[in-house]
Amino acid sequence: MKVNRIIRNVTIVTPLGSEARKGSDMSNLQIIPEGIIVIVDGIIEFAGKETDCPGELLSLHEYEYTDGEGRVALPGFVDSHTHLVFGGYRPDEFAWRLNGDTYMSIMERGGGIQSTVNATRECSADDMADKARFFISRMQEMGVTTVEAKSGYGLNVESELNQLKAIKQLSDDPDLGMNVVSTFLGAHAVPTEYKGRTAEYIDYIISEMLPVFKDLAKCCDVFCEKNVFELEDSRRLLKAAREMGYAIKLHADEIVTLGGGELAAELGALSADHLLHVSDKGVEDMAKAGVVATLLPLTAFALKEPYAPARKFIEAGGAVALATDLNPGSCFSGSIPLTIALACIYMNMSIEEVITALTINGAAALGMAGEIGTIEKGKKGDIIILEFDNINYLPYYVGMNCVKTTIHAGKIVYNHN
Ligand code: NIG
Ligand code: FE
Repeated sequence: MKVNRIIRNVTIVTPLGSEARKGSDMSNLQIIPEGIIVIVDGIIEFAGKETDCPGELLSLHEYEYTDGEGRVALPGFVDSHTHLVFGGYRPDEFAWRLNGDTYMSIMERGGGIQSTVNATRECSADDMADKARFFISRMQEMGVTTVEAKSGYGLNVESELNQLKAIKQLSDDPDLGMNVVSTFLGAHAVPTEYKGRTAEYIDYIISEMLPVFKDLAKCCDVFCEKNVFELEDSRRLLKAAREMGYAIKLHADEIVTLGGGELAAELGALSADHLLHVSDKGVEDMAKAGVVATLLPLTAFALKEPYAPARKFIEAGGAVALATDLNPGSCFSGSIPLTIALACIYMNMSIEEVITALTINGAAALGMAGEIGTIEKGKKGDIIILEFDNINYLPYYVGMNCVKTTIHAGKIVYNHN
C-alpha cells in the first residue's frame, strides 16, 4: 500500500542531487531548520521550510502525521555492499584469527568462503530468505532503507540461482520495507571442483551463469585478489558481464595491492570496494573515471587491517561511499553506528562526508542516485529521524544507534519510543 505522510518539525539535513558527490562537494549538505517533508504515494512531493510549503498540498490528500519534535531528518542510509544471503556461520574462524591465523590462510586450506559455500548448497531459497529477514530488521533499526545483497556462496548454476531467488523473494516483498538490490558474485572464490582451473571456472561463469541470471541481478561483482581472481580473469569476466548489460563492481585491493582500482577505472565500473591497499595511481584513476570508492571499515577493523585511504580519494576529487560488508566470514557485522565511528575516528572523514557516503554516494554505487539518497522532491520517501537535534551525535554517541524512526516509502518500518 502506498503511503501519504507529512513529517513536520524536523531539521532536514541532506546532500542534494542525483549523482555521486565528489571531493570537497561531499561536505556540502543542505540544512533546513523547521522543515517539513510531504510524501505522496511513497514519493517526496515537498521538502523544505514549513513556511514555504504550499498550503493546498497539505489538504490535497489524507496524510499520516509524524512530529519530529525538532530532531534531525536524514535520507535513509544505503548499505551498498553486503553478502546478506548465506547458509551457516563461521564463528570458529574468528577465534582462529584471534590466535594468529590470517583470512587468506584459512581460505587456502579450504575454509573461509568455501565453508559457507558448502553450507549454502544445503539450504533452500526460503530458508536463506528467512534468515536474511532477521538481518534486515536489524538494519531497519539502524536507519538502512536500501541494501545491496550479493550471491557468491553457491558457485555453481543451481546454488547461485538459489541464492539469487532468495534475494528476489526479498526484493519482491512489498511489506519488507527495504529496497533490496541484487548483485551476482559467482566469481567470489574458485570452488573446490575447479581448483587449479581458474580460467575454466571463469569460462563456466561466462557461458552458463551470466546469460541465465541477467533478470535476477543488476550488477556483477568479482573478488579480484592475488591467488583468487587476478587481473586478467577479472577483466575477462567483467567485460563479458558489461556486454550483457550488467553494471560492474569489484572487490579490489582488499588484501594486497594488485591494481583492482586501476581495473575498475579502465572498465568504467560503478564502484570498486574495500581498497585497503589501493595504489596512488588506483586512487587517481578511479577519481578521474568517476568510479565510486566503497569503503568498508568494519572489515578492516574485524581483520585488524589498516583502513582504506578515504582522505586520498576525497582529495583526488573522488566519490566515497561507506557500507558494512555484512558477511559470515571477514565481517559478521551490519553495524552502521560502528561504521560511522570508525570512518570519523580512524579514516578522518568529517560527519558531513560520512552522511554523504552513506546516502547519495551509496545510492550512486548502486546506480540509484536518481531515485534515492537525498531528501528532495521526486525521490523515494526514505527518511530517518534521529534521536537528536544535531548530526554531531552520530559519531559522538560512539557505536550506539542514533536512529529513532526509519521511514521507507513513507511508511514507518521502525520506531523507538
Ligand atoms: O567482502 N573478500 C571477499 N568477500 C567478502 C568476504 C566473504 C567471506 O569471508 O565469506 C568480503 O570481505
Ligand atoms: Fe564483500
